[in-house]
Amino acid sequence: MSSMQRWILRRRPEGEVRPGDLELVTEPMPEPGTGEVLVRTIYLSLDPTNRLWMSDQDQYMPPVNIGETMRGISVGVVETSRSDRLKPGDIVNGLGGWSTHFIANGNHLAPLFAQQGLPLTAYMSVLGATGLTAWYGMCDIGHPKSGETVVVSAAAGAVGSIAGQLAKFRGARVIGIAGGKAKCDWLTNDLGFDGAIDYKSEDVGDALDKLCPDGIDVNFENVGGTIMDAVFSRMNLFGRFALCGMIAAYNDDGRPTGPTDFSRVLMKRLTIRGFLVSDFYPRAAEAMAELIPSVTSGKLKWKVHVDQGLEGAMDSLQRLFTGNHDGKLLIQLSPEP
Ligand SMILES: NC(=O)c1ccc[n+]([C@@H]2O[C@H](COP(=O)([O-])OP(=O)(O)OC[C@H]3O[C@@H](n4cnc5c(N)ncnc54)[C@H](OP(=O)(O)O)[C@@H]3O)[C@@H](O)[C@H]2O)c1
Repeated sequence: MSSMQRWILRRRPEGEVRPGDLELVTEPMPEPGTGEVLVRTIYLSLDPTNRLWMSDQDQYMPPVNIGETMRGISVGVVETSRSDRLKPGDIVNGLGGWSTHFIANGNHLAPLFAQQGLPLTAYMSVLGATGLTAWYGMCDIGHPKSGETVVVSAAAGAVGSIAGQLAKFRGARVIGIAGGKAKCDWLTNDLGFDGAIDYKSEDVGDALDKLCPDGIDVNFENVGGTIMDAVFSRMNLFGRFALCGMIAAYNDDGRPTGPTDFSRVLMKRLTIRGFLVSDFYPRAAEAMAELIPSVTSGKLKWKVHVDQGLEGAMDSLQRLFTGNHDGKLLIQLSPEP
């Protein structure tokens, strides 16, 4: 009998995810019922929010329950179909979870309409939730204008690298904050950023003073904590603050800290907006109208870091917190058709 594997959440992590928090189990391959399909996962997206989903803190969607398959965004291929909507061989994406195979109602999966000539990994990164997050956060909330100064944190990461390029396309001066020389060099040499700050070896506040002498008009915030505070305290009159993520706090048990001088919102009449990419899914076509041609022409650069095999998922997830990855973090579970 053929089998499948999945990671089950066994207890809520305290701090970093550790062995025993999740368990990899092997089970008989399930059979789809009427209206259902069996999907083989090809790529699993590992996202900082996975760590939030393991926690029962108040958040934007229900946490994964103890004993459930770990939630995750994936792309896969339909192997067996008992649905009128999907046939074997169809490529689909959805919340397939940390699982080699899964059963889903055929009505709940979206067939993926791929552009010719682009790899499947593009739809798990720049043309998936990552690209949409960057586009809405930067273009709809930050809306940088020519000549304005934009700062992006986790700037060499999946979302940050795209957000910064979108601001460059609009004529802004873009400063990225990233960990390590290699990532900073990539931002300035390959992506056209106007400056980069290595937060691991530089004082972020001092570096911002040098690189943003006229202050900051737009912040695309991915990190939170002291990096966010350094940017916040340099925001200009009518500045826009797009709060995308606060990864520095995802492994902490307490509440993340906010800016030390919140009165700056009043004094500088700042607009702060937290957002979730899912809020914008109904408007995805707007973003894709720019993202698809920018990707196909090569103007918009993107990277993926692909680890192999579901067994290493917990170690792979840690990369997001150490920065030991280069681009959108994915795991490949099975070959592309
Ligand atoms: N709002 C939404 O809908 C939405 C959607 C997707 C993602 N996000 C958020 O966007 C952010 C980036 O996500 P991503 O998927 O693109 O991941 P990513 O940037 O590719 O990877 C995470 C990066 O965060 C940086 N980082 C981690 N811990 C840090 C710390 N303590 N201090 C400073 N930097 C730290 C590391 O960058 P370095 O290597 O430079 O250190 C790491 O590479 C996350 O906060 C995530 O939650 C939000």
